[in-house]
Amino acid sequence: SEPAPMYRLVLAGDSGTGKSSFLLRLTLNEFREDLQSTLGVDFQLKKMLVDGEMTSLQIWDTAGQERFRSIARSYFRKAHGVLLLYDVTSERSFLNVRAWVDQIQDSTDEKLPICIIGNKVDLREQCENPSCVRSLDGEKLAKAYGALFCETSAKEGSNIVEAVLHLAREVKLN
Ligand code: GTP
Ligand code: MG
Repeated sequence: SEPAPMYRLVLAGDSGTGKSSFLLRLTLNEFREDLQSTLGVDFQLKKMLVDGEMTSLQIWDTAGQERFRSIARSYFRKAHGVLLLYDVTSERSFLNVRAWVDQIQDSTDEKLPICIIGNKVDLREQCENPSCVRSLDGEKLAKAYGALFCETSAKEGSNIVEAVLHLAREVKLN
C-alpha cells in the first residue's frame, strides 16, 4: 500500500501560551502544570486519519522566548502549516499574533496555511476577567489574515485534535 503522506506543522507563538502543553495533550493525552519552557525546538510524530486517509504529521514545537526567535523562524521555511497560539488570558500574547503572522509570511514565498489558536479557554470560563480575549476578537483577527481559527484548552483537552485536523485538511488542499 501507499505510504502515508507526511506533512510538517510548526507550533509558534509567545512563550507560555501553551505550545508544548498542546503537543503533550495531542501525543500523550497528558497535562502538566509545571512544564519547562522549551529551549530551541522539540519534535513529535503524530499519525491521524484526515478525511479518511492515514496521514503522518511531523510537529515541531518551537521556543517562544525572544532569544530563540531565529530558530523558530528557520522552521517556518520548511513547514507545510503553522499552529499559531496565543493565551486567551494574555492580551499581550494576542497582540503579538500580528507580528508572528508577519514573520511566518516573510519567511516563505508561498502563503502558508495558518491556524490561529486561542488556548487556555478553561481559565476564561473560570474567571470573569474582563481583560480576557473574546472569541469574536480572535475570529476577526484570523479572518483578516485569511487564517483558520480555533479555541482550545490543553488542560482539559478540548478542541486539540479538532484544531490539528482543521489545519491538516487545509494543508492537504493547499
Ligand atoms: P515556551 O516553551 O516558553 O515557548 O512556552 P509554551 O508555549 O510551550 O508554554 P507551555 O506549554 O510550557 O505552558 C506554559 C504554562 O501554561 C504551563 O504552566 C502550562 O501548564 C500552562 N498551560 C498550558 N496550556 C494550558 C491550558 O490550556 N490551560 C491552563 N489553565 N494552563 C495551561
Ligand atoms: Mg514550550
